[in-house]
Amino acid sequence: MTYINQLSNHEGQIVTLKGWIYNIRSSKAIHFLEVRDGTGLCQCIVSADDVTEDVFETAGTLNQESSLEITGKVMKDERSVGGYELHANGLTIIQIAENYPITPKEHGVEFLMENRHLWLRSRKQWAAMRVRNEIIFTIHSFFQGRGFVQMDSPIFTGNAAEGSTTLFETDYFDEKAYLAQTGQLYGEAMAMAHGLIYTFGPTFRAEKSKTRRHLTEFWMIEPEMAFYDLEMNMNLAEDMIKAIVGTVLKNRKEELAILERDTTRLEMITEKRFERMTYTDAVNKLKSDETAALLDEMAESRRQELDRILKERDELKKEHGSAKKWRKVQIDQRVKEILARTDQIEEDLRNIPAWKESARNFQWGNDFGGSDETVLMMQFDVPLIVTHWPAEIKAFYMKRDETRKLALGMDILAPEGYGEIVGGSQREDDLETMEKRIEEEGLDKDVFEWYLDLRRFGTVPHSGYGLGLERTVAWICGLSHVRETIPFPRMLGRLRP
Ligand code: 4AD
Ligand code: MG
Repeated sequence: MTYINQLSNHEGQIVTLKGWIYNIRSSKAIHFLEVRDGTGLCQCIVSADDVTEDVFETAGTLNQESSLEITGKVMKDERSVGGYELHANGLTIIQIAENYPITPKEHGVEFLMENRHLWLRSRKQWAAMRVRNEIIFTIHSFFQGRGFVQMDSPIFTGNAAEGSTTLFETDYFDEKAYLAQTGQLYGEAMAMAHGLIYTFGPTFRAEKSKTRRHLTEFWMIEPEMAFYDLEMNMNLAEDMIKAIVGTVLKNRKEELAILERDTTRLEMITEKRFERMTYTDAVNKLKSDETAALLDEMAESRRQELDRILKERDELKKEHGSAKKWRKVQIDQRVKEILARTDQIEEDLRNIPAWKESARNFQWGNDFGGSDETVLMMQFDVPLIVTHWPAEIKAFYMKRDETRKLALGMDILAPEGYGEIVGGSQREDDLETMEKRIEEEGLDKDVFEWYLDLRRFGTVPHSGYGLGLERTVAWICGLSHVRETIPFPRMLGRLRP
């Protein structure tokens, strides 16, 4: 058996592929089977001249997602997906599939989500999962290459770390347990044993949030480093993100093309230094006249674009009647694109006034909302690291600056409206301060005794952060919603399949 992504090593040879029918077109004397095998797509040509009558007829009975084995000669063909074709001389059907619900026509997202177990086979979904895999692999090589030890934190926990309002509670043999919101507190203990560690595991948040950035179950990568201050923490996160983007750009070109990702913005990431700014400066920027003017400009350019594409659509519609068949297909495709873009522009035009209002009236001391992050990031090509946050809105474990009002936290915001992808901080390392913080937060001190031990026995300055895998995948793939970045998303109202 040969895999499709290995066909370049088999030019001119006879090979057998095993896979599924992605698409089939037939004429009297020839069947074009688009076969997928998990590694890629390959056009297989079954010609009446090359195969027995029996095989030719069998091929004609295949439908979408039927499984088969197909043997033939590998031929280079630039126009073909993947660059190679198979000229078949034999074929065995494994199963003729029932009527497959996901057809090449458009489907609503709810329908696709109901059929997530099948939707995963579609090209864009396939490409996104390959990018996700590349990101996961890069993260491991990045940290392993720098001497970090991967350690696993428990998923059942007895304490809240990121606020008690977003905890999933379970019954643990008559005791209350929670699904981990973060592995961090355990990560800190592990860093005191190994110096440099990272965890990579599922984390859970029960906030009843329906935004395109929220999952109830998501994967987080959490490095924790003994003797790192905030600055070193930021540098590490920046290097890691650059490594991720760089590797995906290098190794996943085909997938990014399938996702129709415009990679020019991503390429900048690997070259330029990330922007860095304190929370206070970011707030000032958000409230500035400059930002308001930028939003006005954006609205104006959207209006112009809308005029332009609506005119184009009218022209195309006129042309359609007398166009040749191939041209009609092109026109239909373009009209579909225009329709999607129109929806997007109209949504933006509805949103911009509210964004402007929210930015202008932003109060120091609040957390940035999704739209504030988007507006702030309109001004930057590369990620922005926001530091020195009002302590009140950040977690109890963050170290504070000299004024005691600001937490030594850092959030990294991705460009292009993807918002926060990293949250981290230097940790409070003083026993008394930490005891006080736990008390102020109304947390049960007993369950944090073990955590306080870390401040009793050889406490040192240390830092860490958490990268949200799905938000990172969404950003790099250019997907508008995190639901397409994980095989089986768990969200408010979505537990199956
Ligand atoms: O900012 P968060 O809440 O930080 C922590 O949990 C820290 N304990 C991490 C640390 O310092 N070790 O979450 C970190 C990241 C966010 O920036 C975001 O990318 C992702 O996790 N994230 C979510 N992703 C999807 N759905 C959600 N509901 C998410 N909540 C956070
Ligand atoms: Mg955060």
